[in-house]
Formats: sequence, structure tokens, C-alpha cells
Amino acid sequence: MAEHLQRPLSIAIVGSSGFIGQYHLQHVLQEKDSELAALIDTAPSVATTAMQHDVPHFKNVDEFLEAYKSGDLAVDAVILATPTHTHVTLAQSFVGSGLSLLIEKPLSVTGGDGKSLLALSKQDTRGVYMVGHHRRHNAYVKAIKDVLDKKKLGDIVAVNGVWAARKHDAYYDIPWHTQVGAGGVILTNAIHDFDMLQYWLGDIAEVFAMEGPKRRPYAVDSTVQLIFKFSSGVIGSFLLTDSSASHVSWEAGTGDIPAFSSIGEDFLTIFGTNGSISVPSLIRYHYDDRPENEKNWKFPLQKDPDAMAAVDGIPAFAHQLKHFIAATRHEVEPNCSVEDGLRAVLVTEAVFRSLKTGKPSLVEKF
Ligand SMILES: NC(=O)c1ccc[n+]([C@@H]2O[C@H](COP(=O)([O-])OP(=O)(O)OC[C@H]3O[C@@H](n4cnc5c(N)ncnc54)[C@H](O)[C@@H]3O)[C@@H](O)[C@H]2O)c1
Repeated sequence: MAEHLQRPLSIAIVGSSGFIGQYHLQHVLQEKDSELAALIDTAPSVATTAMQHDVPHFKNVDEFLEAYKSGDLAVDAVILATPTHTHVTLAQSFVGSGLSLLIEKPLSVTGGDGKSLLALSKQDTRGVYMVGHHRRHNAYVKAIKDVLDKKKLGDIVAVNGVWAARKHDAYYDIPWHTQVGAGGVILTNAIHDFDMLQYWLGDIAEVFAMEGPKRRPYAVDSTVQLIFKFSSGVIGSFLLTDSSASHVSWEAGTGDIPAFSSIGEDFLTIFGTNGSISVPSLIRYHYDDRPENEKNWKFPLQKDPDAMAAVDGIPAFAHQLKHFIAATRHEVEPNCSVEDGLRAVLVTEAVFRSLKTGKPSLVEKF
């Protein structure tokens, strides 16, 4: 049995002072099965935070790896929470080090870079690689997965969702948030929805995208309407905008990210031959107890609230961290894998192609 199986995992965080790095830090400190090993961040202020937690601070990944490889530092795993366009380069530095890696979403900006990282990670027999599509660990997503896997909606025919919110002005003071190939509503926000939809319903095969008005003076995408088709034949649509004072989004619906206000309105519905369900209300509408000749729109639907029982109120990031620890200990397969992360990136590429050409675009297979 590996030594680290018997004690809390030592975890270092890269990008610990960023928006999401701070969540990871909080959860690593709170989780009884993990302890903080080091903070790695280009921001000089992190030195103070590191001192407060009695761990070393490194200004960059190279300095950290030097200390780790010289044996000065006991570390089992790393959470990489730096800006999107840095993920692949920084992740590659860890390949072969023996450290496990949780890479924040998106895995990469391009499919090509994602594939390079996938190839490298496959050669690494020691480290475990996981992508931080944390929604997979959210109770609402798990509840829907269970409903779908148990075929409680019959055969799925369609899905319809909205992610609409008005980001705060200071969000755009962070330069990469305004840059094409780093920020934007597709790479930053829609990628969550792509992974969630593919986790539930299988691969998205084709996308048609149309862009709406840009309400801010930046080149990045901001309002996009998507139509897509899954490999299964299921069709879907999704509206994304970061420029609307809206009550309809993942965060407003589920309260998943405490920094954002939540209101609990439904933002997504899945439609099946035997039922339909929305998130976050999780009420399944169906005709299960009616005779066959009454299973149609002339008769009142029945309501089943059972799926809500699975919503445990535990933050998805806490569940994700526990899962990452278990994956590092080889107790479970990582959910989600580098392949899964790449699948979501390939959907974003198809969206960008469609926006450029004005035509539907096939999602690359690998
Ligand atoms: N899972 C989620 O819900 C979620 C939410 C927000 C952001 N994210 C993802 O997390 C990543 C970070 O986003 P953010 O909003 O926290 O960004 P941010 O800009 O707020 O923070 C990035 C942090 O990384 C540090 N940094 C930058 N380059 C570095 C380098 N080369 N080495 C070490 N440190 C470096 C910065 O100093 C900063 O502390 C993005 O990829 C984003 O898509 C995920």
C-alpha cells in the first residue's frame, strides 16, 4: 500500500489567490483528508497567505518543481487554478513528476493543445490527471444523471437550457477575461454546460451558433445562441449571455458558487418520451401510473419530487476534492478525465467554427 494512502494527502495549489484558487484553498484546508503543502502564484501577496498557513510560497511552477524534486518538499498532488490559456503549458511541467493533477476547466484553449496534453498524460504511469468540471460532483447534476441512467424519462428527445447573468464590471479588469483565446462566455461558462450535457446525454456531434450583441467593448464572445445535435440524435438548444440582468443560470438556479446570488429558478429542461424534468426544481413530470391510452397531453401529468432527495447541500468543490483524493489513491477512476475535458473543448472549437462560417459545424472526434 502506498504510504500516502494512510495519511491526509499533501496538496499544493497553483493560482491560489485567484477567484477559484481561493475556493480550492478553503476546501483543502477544511477537508480532513488533505493538508496544504505549498502555494504557487505569481502574485507577491501570496507570500503572506502562505506564511499564515505555514507553508512555502513559490513564484512559479519551475521553482516549486525544483524544491519538490530535490526532496525538500513532501507533496502528493497539485490543483492547477491559473488562467485558462496557461493550463496546458503548466500542466505539461508536472508530467512524470509523480504528482497527481487537478486541472481547472477548460482543459485547454484548443483541441490540438488538449490532445498533446492527453498524449503526454497517457505516458505518465504515476500521476493521476483529472479536469475540474466540478459540476459533475454537484448534487443536482448527480440527481439528473441518476434519473437519466434509470431511464425515468424514457427516451430523451431534446434538452433546452439558458445561462444568462450580468457579470460585474470589475470582472473585466482581469486582462485575460477580455482576450479572445482565453476568456469569453463560451470558453469560460458554456464549457461547463457542454461537459454537463455530454456527461448526461453522450457526445455532442454538431453545433450551430449565432452571436448576439456585444454590450461591452471587448472582442470576446458575450451572447451566443446554440443549437446542437448529440450523436444519439437528441437535439438541444442553449442560450448564453454574460450581459443580462437575468434570474436564469446555473449559479442563480443552484447556488453552486457562493460568490454569486441565487434565486432558485429553473434554467434547463430535459424532455423524454415518458417524462420531463427541470433543474433546479427536479420535479419529474410523467404519466407513469396512467393506463397506456391516457399517457398523452389530454390527461394531467403526475409530479414526482423524489430526485430532490439527493440534494445534500454539500458544495460540489468539497465533493470534487474528496473524489480527487480518492482518485490519487487509485480508489476510483477520475471523474472527469483528460479525455472528458478534451471532449468539452472540442465542442467549443465547433462553436467558434460555426460563428466564423455562419454554418453548422461537426464536433471533431478523437
Ligand atoms: N470550476 C469553476 O466553476 C471555475 C470558476 C472560475 C474559474 N474557473 C477556472 O479557473 C481558472 C482560473 O480562473 P480565475 O477566475 O480564478 O482566474 P484569476 O485570474 O482570478 O486567478 C488566476 C490566478 O493564477 C495566478 N497566476 C497566473 N499565472 C500564473 C502562473 N503562470 N503561475 C502561477 N500562478 C499564476 C494569478 O496570480 C491568480 O492568482 C480558469 O481556467 C477558469 O476557467 C473555474
